Amino acid sequence: GGKKDRFVIGMSQCNLGEPWRVQMNADIAAAAKEHPEIEVIFKDAQNDTLKQRAHVEELVAAKVDVLFVSPKEAQPLTEPVGKAFDAGIPVIVLDRAVLGERFTTFIGADNKKIGRAAGEWIKKVLGGKGKVVELKGLMTSTPGQDRSAGFREAIAGSEIEIAFEADMKWLEPEARKEMDSALARLPKIDLVYAHNDPGAHGAYLAARAAGREKEMKFVGIDALPHEGVSYVAQGILDATFQYPTGGREAVETALRIRKGEKVPKTITLGSRRFTKDDVQKGGEIIE
Ligand code: FRU
Repeated sequence: GGKKDRFVIGMSQCNLGEPWRVQMNADIAAAAKEHPEIEVIFKDAQNDTLKQRAHVEELVAAKVDVLFVSPKEAQPLTEPVGKAFDAGIPVIVLDRAVLGERFTTFIGADNKKIGRAAGEWIKKVLGGKGKVVELKGLMTSTPGQDRSAGFREAIAGSEIEIAFEADMKWLEPEARKEMDSALARLPKIDLVYAHNDPGAHGAYLAARAAGREKEMKFVGIDALPHEGVSYVAQGILDATFQYPTGGREAVETALRIRKGEKVPKTITLGSRRFTKDDVQKGGEIIE
């Protein structure tokens, strides 16, 4: 098509240093490639909130047709995202939420539900009791808050004790460091619940370095085929819960907005649980 057919998407990604976000951008790029009129401008804030705020402002100044943003933290991104929306740019927020309602559509899985499903599974495999380490995602981001809340809801009233908890900020090296502290403090750990697979893997590496990896189970979230699912197949993790990126759905939604269609305020993606027993057949759907 000619120049007037061009459709520019500006994508503000919070941190391409994490494999799941590399996948999200790849999903966006693959879906966009099916539509020659789409051009995507990708920005990577490298896990720096101030940089991400500046990127959102730059994309607004560049007058992109649609803005995508996967925000590092909810509160600090709320104002720049809201300003873009108020300026008339359709805004699709991906995976981590902002506060309030000043955006067009939010696309993501239900993190509270995933946390609850993790808690239910953990309760079952531990027979309703035991000492758990919770390695949390960045607690200024909504998935960290929701994965914790859902988990705690599910184990409430059981004899499962959260014996150690720390914010590993979604990062494997941080998780490894926090797990070193947990191992030093606790003579017995039954299970590690990490809010993402890099966190669960970091914990596993710390436990293995201490010669204690067989003492406990490891549970993560994300279930990328070449990451979490592969860890489960190898017996490194006991379970992982899929967290779809929403990249393809974001491009599809942007095209609907372009056509003038009304789109829902929230698009909720499904999830699957992968364990040793079902990893070969593609996991089990979370109800
Ligand atoms: C990547 C990531 C994923 C996690 C998601 C939560 O940055 O930490 O591992 O599922 O963000 O927003």
